[in-house]
Amino acid sequence: MALYSEKVMDHFLHPRNVGVIEDANAIGEVGNAKCGDIMKMYLKIKDDIVEDVKFETFGCGSAIASSSMATEMIKGKPLSEVRNLTNKAVTEALDGLPAHKIHCSVLAEEAIHSALEDYERRQNASDN
Ligand code: FES
Repeated sequence: MALYSEKVMDHFLHPRNVGVIEDANAIGEVGNAKCGDIMKMYLKIKDDIVEDVKFETFGCGSAIASSSMATEMIKGKPLSEVRNLTNKAVTEALDGLPAHKIHCSVLAEEAIHSALEDYERRQNASDN
């Protein structure tokens, strides 16, 4: 059996939503200290909907595939749904990852959650 699913290879070779959103109102950046990979997510949120999302990932193929899939899963979705996105859902959508690559999908979950925290911080700051 191939180590990586066709979906992982597709999202690694043709990642969706790569780049930067200049006027993003939610930015999350996380890293894994062990492998040194870094993931950054830019979200444009309006009326509690993720209108646009882009990512930059300096990391392995599984991290790139996970970020690509995760952005597809949250684009156009309400924050209530986005908050519940787990690395397990991302891994399942990719038709699985090798056990030693599961942490790459965790980065995608963490990057999105970190962006949502940033969004809340900005909301609170503008309320005051
Ligand atoms: Fe660390 Fe993939 S090896 S994110």
